[in-house]
Amino acid sequence: MAAHSHLAPEVGSDPPEGELRDSHGRRITDLRVSITDRCNYKCVYCRTGQHGAQYPELSAEDYLRLIRIFLSLGIEKVRLTGGEPLLRRDLPDIVAAIRAMHTRSDQSPEVAVTTNGHLMEDLAEPLKRAGLSRVTISMDAVDPAIFERITRIAGSFAAVVRGIEAAQRAALDPVKINCVLLRGFNDDQVESFATFARERNVVVRFIEFMPLEEDRLWTPQMVVPLTEIVERIHRVHPLVPLPATVAGETARRYGFTDGAGGEIGIIAPVTQAFCGACSRVRLTSDGKIRTCLFSHREHDLAGLARAGANDEELRAFILGVIQTKEARHHIGEPEFLKPSRSMVHIGG
Ligand code: 5AD
Repeated sequence: MAAHSHLAPEVGSDPPEGELRDSHGRRITDLRVSITDRCNYKCVYCRTGQHGAQYPELSAEDYLRLIRIFLSLGIEKVRLTGGEPLLRRDLPDIVAAIRAMHTRSDQSPEVAVTTNGHLMEDLAEPLKRAGLSRVTISMDAVDPAIFERITRIAGSFAAVVRGIEAAQRAALDPVKINCVLLRGFNDDQVESFATFARERNVVVRFIEFMPLEEDRLWTPQMVVPLTEIVERIHRVHPLVPLPATVAGETARRYGFTDGAGGEIGIIAPVTQAFCGACSRVRLTSDGKIRTCLFSHREHDLAGLARAGANDEELRAFILGVIQTKEARHHIGEPEFLKPSRSMVHIGG
């Protein structure tokens, strides 16, 4: 056999049909695009509450051009995030335009949104009509007073619950709820969230707190680990592990042994990092590529487009950037350096 048959494809060569791989062999299929870093909440674990938007936003056309190029390289799923993406009036148009695009295997791409749900009541139907596949709503307490202590917005709890109900009525299925637990702040909500998942037939996903906040208050002691969450829920509502639904699944999934509706997911980037299965790349609201939440470098794709680069040049730039994707993050290690932007300015 010829020796060269074992060589990896040349760097910069066109990916085989449907494939976008980084230098660690991971398939990159998932693009997260922040379409604004404005947010109508000031969640204590995310924002200082001091300043508003910090980075510019692109026009819908500019995001759509970049998204189309990513799809031509092998991206299959697009998640729109922020900031709070529902603050952009043109969100339904953006969703519809992405659904009208094609992946390399000639499918309409999956489009999901991560939102705080505050404006979902009025937008669930228009988003469904635009072709939105799925929605994830952030909700960090089921107790209204605790919830509003976190968001620092009066009336937010009722608005988000109405948003969840509207999403379910619009058949945005499944509705997923993201909950970030902070020790001593809302970690008493674990069991009530399990009840909420059962009663409302939603997927509740607990995310371990990562050092991504503006205020730099993260300590390892604030993280409520996966094992504790599972044990505590299991004591009240026995759980049964469910298989991963997709390759690169970030959540450990559990159903209820008594067959009740709803599901529990646990995303454990701190205690059980899943970097080896990471399939993601991010675009910030100002059009910079980030290859990891914890990157220290950004790659100015929109700047290159503004300077007049053609699609072929942008494709080559993206392929080169993907090759620099970090093997893993270093949360909890002595040499860990906080990333160059906080979550609200990166996109969840
Ligand atoms: N650690 C973990 N999750 C976070 N999120 C925001 N900041 C953090 C953090 N520091 C969550 C949001 C949203 C999701 C995209 O990420 O609550 O649900």
